[in-house]
Amino acid sequence: MNNAELVARDLKAVWHPCTQMKDHETLPLIPIKRGEGVWLEDFEGNRYIDAVSSWWVNLFGHANPRINAAIREQTEQLEHVILAGFTHEPVVRLSERLVSVTPEGLNRCFYADNGSSAIEVALKMSYHYWKNLGRPGKKNFVNLSNSYHGETLGALALGDVSLYKDTYQPLLMDVLTAPSPDAYLKEPGETDEAYALRQFEAMERLLAEKHEEICAVVVEPLIQCAGHMRMHHPIYHTRLREACDRYQVHLIADEIAVGFGRTGTLFACEQSGISPDFLCLSKGLTAGYLPLSVVLTTDRVYEAFYDDYQTLRAFLHSHSYTGNPIGCAVALATLDIFRDEQVIENNRQLARCMAESVAHLADHPNVGDIRQHGMTLAIEMVRDKAHKTPFPWQERRGLRVYQHALTRQALLRPLGNVVYFMPPYVITEEQIRHLAQVATEGIELAVKD
Ligand SMILES: Cc1ncc(COP(=O)(O)O)c(C=O)c1O
Repeated sequence: MNNAELVARDLKAVWHPCTQMKDHETLPLIPIKRGEGVWLEDFEGNRYIDAVSSWWVNLFGHANPRINAAIREQTEQLEHVILAGFTHEPVVRLSERLVSVTPEGLNRCFYADNGSSAIEVALKMSYHYWKNLGRPGKKNFVNLSNSYHGETLGALALGDVSLYKDTYQPLLMDVLTAPSPDAYLKEPGETDEAYALRQFEAMERLLAEKHEEICAVVVEPLIQCAGHMRMHHPIYHTRLREACDRYQVHLIADEIAVGFGRTGTLFACEQSGISPDFLCLSKGLTAGYLPLSVVLTTDRVYEAFYDDYQTLRAFLHSHSYTGNPIGCAVALATLDIFRDEQVIENNRQLARCMAESVAHLADHPNVGDIRQHGMTLAIEMVRDKAHKTPFPWQERRGLRVYQHALTRQALLRPLGNVVYFMPPYVITEEQIRHLAQVATEGIELAVKD
């Protein structure tokens, strides 16, 4: 097999995700033969640093020996079993471990097999909880502007990124939208915290006015990843938790992208000192290996469903691969690595290195913002720095950075005009500095007319 042969066969049979396939008439598809650590390698020995962790999933590198061993061991024992009426050791052990590492009070784990499905579970559970309590009028959800929660119809309805959503709008349920605390939009001289508090006022008003009809508020704590890696101050969620309690509205934290250390703490909610009513996890849960997701919730929610069968209070939701044992074994190995290798502590130095390596871009006339929460750093290219005027999306400036990076051994896949690093935690400081150099060159090329 060589690169050209595989690409030719691919283009005859595969339809790629989130892709205008016609682009591949000019934009080469990259075939990958193997991966090791931060590296992806094609059939001719060309290598790329996976700076975006393959859509934010990979935590400890490709072909991680410890995770590979966990998979081998589990497949020898049990590959899968129905989780209704049956159980197995990996799902029990994983649930116990997740309860112990997530914020206080999240004592129950319900599994699905991807992030969007976890969101659907949380939405249905929240609505059903209020119905079981005799409050069926609570049936609306609140989201934040610029949010993203996945592609299935419920999750898509909850998102607010027009590129993904607008086409399907006629198919989607209505949601109530509060303005995002996105610190990029703050006034000159205003702190991130002051802006988050100011934006929270609109959320407070919405809850005060409509709480009788609201089941839950859904947020992506600290980083709106698909929404161009926009970031905000944790105070927003501290206030939101208090308000949700006051108004009897659930708080759903979507940590599908930011969970497992991406923001510097194991979970982003920790930085606001809060526990949500539902915590949705996926992606890093299996360190980039297998599709698995989980919704953690409270005893209070669980008990509202616990009754005689005939009352029809049970949560009759399932997916074929719910709680797959191999996925659970991988998640357990992932948590073992966090525990044994002081990952969160070690990441602090890597995060500092990321900040230092791009600091020189702060004065660049076409860099509107450099922002960071822990192991996620984003650089926003703008046409005009003083007014933060964006480049028109049709110009696809980010794509130029992507193409340049491929010639320099890096997979940097910008979101529109935003170049970002969200690397596996096994990256070295030297590799980070290389990425910063490549990003700098790419931005230089991309902003030229
Ligand atoms: C915050 C957030 N929620 C939900 C999802 C959907 O997850 P999945 O792609 O596994 O369906 C994503 C995916 O990027 C995400 O970033």
